[in-house]
Amino acid sequence: MKEILSDAAARSIRYLEGLQSRAVAPAPAAIAALSAFDEPLPDASSTPADTLRLLDEIGSPATMAMAGPRFFGFVIGGSLPVTLGANWLAGAWDQNAVLYRATPGAAYLERIALRWALEVLHLPRECGGAFVTGATVANLCALAAARHAVLARVGWHVEADGLFGAPPVTVVVGDEIHPSVTKSLGILGLGRSRVVKVPVDGQGRMIAANLPPLTGPTIVCVQAGNVNTGAIDPIAEICRRAHAAGAWVHVDGAFGLWAAAAPSRAHLTAGIAEADSWATDAHKWLNVPYDSGLAFVRDAHALQAAMAITAEYLPTQSEIRNPADFTPELSRRARGVEVWAALRSLGRTGVAELIERNCTQARRFAERLSAAGGEILNEVVLNQVLVAFGDAEKTKRVIEAIQADGTCWAGITVWQGRTAMRISVSSWATTDADVERSADAMIRCWRASR
Ligand SMILES: Cc1ncc(COP(=O)(O)O)c(C=O)c1O
Repeated sequence: MKEILSDAAARSIRYLEGLQSRAVAPAPAAIAALSAFDEPLPDASSTPADTLRLLDEIGSPATMAMAGPRFFGFVIGGSLPVTLGANWLAGAWDQNAVLYRATPGAAYLERIALRWALEVLHLPRECGGAFVTGATVANLCALAAARHAVLARVGWHVEADGLFGAPPVTVVVGDEIHPSVTKSLGILGLGRSRVVKVPVDGQGRMIAANLPPLTGPTIVCVQAGNVNTGAIDPIAEICRRAHAAGAWVHVDGAFGLWAAAAPSRAHLTAGIAEADSWATDAHKWLNVPYDSGLAFVRDAHALQAAMAITAEYLPTQSEIRNPADFTPELSRRARGVEVWAALRSLGRTGVAELIERNCTQARRFAERLSAAGGEILNEVVLNQVLVAFGDAEKTKRVIEAIQADGTCWAGITVWQGRTAMRISVSSWATTDADVERSADAMIRCWRASR
């Protein structure tokens, strides 16, 4: 055992150290070599060391260097070393973090991590919380709690009776709703399309004045951090209007919620604590390993009513919260351990510094690319930059050249009809020098493709 685990640790460290110097995207030859995995199912056993060797030799080169300092695609935060270490240790514990009585260490740490997350994000301390796989499932959990609460208020027990014959629930969303919220609404029987859409402004923010009159059971879904622009909806104003009508306000804050933890960005999230539920990711801006998302619900009982199950063999009486009372899964890994490790090691100021630094770095990208003649399509308020290098075809060609160059990696998007490169700065590992080096490479690739 010792030999195999030491070998895995040594290979992991070598991999991570190698990210500084290798191309960010895997080479075509490395992808072609994946066919080495395509063996018939072995009849006989082999040495574990040989399996790890194959995994590293073939698998490692075929990875995208998402853990490295110059990956700016999607919204991906690299894992802080302390969180990867905590992940290894919790992996060794191999806890099925369902019940406090069965896995006290994991459940206790999750409870502390929840308290600290609420504190660092300035959310109500009484919230219930779910540690799930990501913001998609966090949205699902929070919206399940919302569905429970708005129907319970009109005397309908949705968990028992489903939606057959239930009073209709109005769901209001912005035109720029993230598809993971749409998907969650579909899973919950609230409908992917049966929503009232509110127009957005040029940054993707919901226009609060265009909120329709609200009556009856209603859920309003707002966004903190548009996946393209980083813009945050005017949440204070929306909460005021929605709450006056007795509606539930849910915030999809997969990454933008973390602005609340940074003094220079917190004004963007003004009023966010007035909402009823929130979804966010830890694997994005808190820089813990995949997969890790968090749902917070002010009325903890609503979340528990939507999620908890009982059985004779699951003694749920407990002095400390049972993690699985708040999550869709029963069996689950102890992912709260990594959130705890990130928050303990960074502290309040470390989290703020990480967010502030990435936002400053995003602005630096915008300055460099704009000075070189690129068109910045968004107000760079957070960590997202949208840049066009001319028309759609030209921009696409430049993005392909940048990805092939390998110094850094950023993806393509279409923002309000304009094709753009989307740069997301979300990693602890990105230094200011990485930003300058990446901007140099982007400008070089652009010039070479003219
Ligand atoms: C605004 C927003 N909501 C939800 C999600 C989904 O998050 P996850 O992929 O962690 O489930 C994302 C992902 O980028 C996002 O940006």
